Amino acid sequence: MSDPKAEAARRRTFAIISHPDAGKTTLTEKFLLYGGALNKEAGSVKAKGSRRSATSDWMELEQQRGISITSTVLQFPYRDCVVNLLDTPGHRDFSEDTYRVLAAADAAVMVLDAAKGIEPQTLKLFEVCRERNLPLLTFINKWDRPGLDALELIDSIETQIGVTPTPMTWPVGISGDFRGVIDRTSGDFVRFTRTARGATEAPEEVVDAARAEAEEGEAWTTAEGEVELLSEVGADHDQETFLGGITSPTFFGSALTNFGVRLLLDTLVDIVPSPRPREGTNGTIREIDAPFSGYVFKVQANMDPSHRDRIAFFRVMSGKFERGMNVTHQPTGKPFNTKYAHTVSGQDRTTIDEAFPGDIVGLVNAADIRIGDTVFVGDDVEFQRIPPFAPEHFSVVRTTDAGRFKQFRKGISQLDEEGVVQVLRSIDSGDQAPVLAAVGPMQFEVAVHRLENEFGAPVELAPTSYRIARRTNKESAPELRSMQGVDVLFRSDGTALALFESPYWLARIEGEQPELMLERLVAEGGAG
Ligand code: G4P
Repeated sequence: MSDPKAEAARRRTFAIISHPDAGKTTLTEKFLLYGGALNKEAGSVKAKGSRRSATSDWMELEQQRGISITSTVLQFPYRDCVVNLLDTPGHRDFSEDTYRVLAAADAAVMVLDAAKGIEPQTLKLFEVCRERNLPLLTFINKWDRPGLDALELIDSIETQIGVTPTPMTWPVGISGDFRGVIDRTSGDFVRFTRTARGATEAPEEVVDAARAEAEEGEAWTTAEGEVELLSEVGADHDQETFLGGITSPTFFGSALTNFGVRLLLDTLVDIVPSPRPREGTNGTIREIDAPFSGYVFKVQANMDPSHRDRIAFFRVMSGKFERGMNVTHQPTGKPFNTKYAHTVSGQDRTTIDEAFPGDIVGLVNAADIRIGDTVFVGDDVEFQRIPPFAPEHFSVVRTTDAGRFKQFRKGISQLDEEGVVQVLRSIDSGDQAPVLAAVGPMQFEVAVHRLENEFGAPVELAPTSYRIARRTNKESAPELRSMQGVDVLFRSDGTALALFESPYWLARIEGEQPELMLERLVAEGGAG
């Protein structure tokens, strides 16, 4: 079968977002187990150490810091569907990357640790999801261990993220004394059975309500009472509000012991929307069965240090992609051959011969391709670009070895193109000492590490006192530049950013000179 419409209808493309250590990796691996993509008897497949050993130098940084920056894509069949699972970096400093990945997803799963709930550092990642109005599912993980009260967790999701949880399952027994869940759709009790570290699929014993009450006693009646309460306040699944990002179907479980994973995966396949036609910037809709088009959401240096190429990842938006086809690169109008199309998961690359809407394809050595670009066949189309985030940290970068300036310059422009950091230049200092701008300081660590190790350009960073940025224009720039505590710098796309030392200073200038253009940027933090 290779009809794009029929293939698209069976695609489910979603991202997993979570705070580091909430259990994203474990859950992902359990999805693969249920999808049959892993040997069911292989024991725990989670071998972080060995899996990460063959990685490039900048992945060493991930290892040291216990974070993931190089997110990947996994594809596996489940039931009669094809699941595309996009990984996202699990740290708020990389929320801009998460935002870009979400542009390629049709839904997201938020994984929370039952003992921690929503952690302040992660709030931004979830807000980013809200901002895109993406359908959001919630998995409250580690219920096999002591944790917070279920109603309290539900409440904090609602108040902190502004999305209303609609529990699909409800825990019987408090966290740490987990008996199982009530499946709210059927009213049955699904009993929790421990498996040896979840090496095999969890045996699920489904028990009817009468027997559950007899066997579980008070734990059951308490849970039943809470479920009634949820129904009274209308916390029931509604497909329309879910699709609008207003309600979030919520699950309780334990990824480590596999419990609740199948229910989650089944629901994902049932309710996550298949790829829908998207609108181009000229207002026309690119139908799913129109000729091929794709949207580049990520550009990344290769993870293999032995060949330093880079990969542009696009999501198929319409039509059938066939490797080797000639596509047009929309911004330049140039033809581009797709002979080197791959699917990439972790270090593994496999040639991909065809792909359908919702699938992710990596193009190797696509030198001219940038984040936000459209590639297509047939009628011209351009999909909306992802706006860069509001940076909150600004540091001047210089190379400490003048003999390596060429490498320094190359590295800076590469990091800029990949969106690792934003690179800002002033009219006077230009390429010698650009300003690196970031949402979170860990982005600087990655930039410095890569400049030194990948490009051989040792650098020093000098933090500036700027804290907040606004978009401005040519007309306002000279006046702003003449002010104390303000600077105007330019991004490589030509956008002028006015930088301020504090929100108070900015507010004062806005109040005194309302004629100056000072526009807010996307996903601004508390400072704005
Ligand atoms: P992440 O990708 O979100 O960073 O989280 P990851 O899956 O790596 O899980 C973080 C830790 O939490 C791991 O322990 C993992 O085993 C544990 N974990 C995940 N899900 C559950 C769960 O449902 N219940 C319990 N009790 N623990 C869970 P670790 O000690 O850091 O790693 P490891 O030694 O187990 O590999």
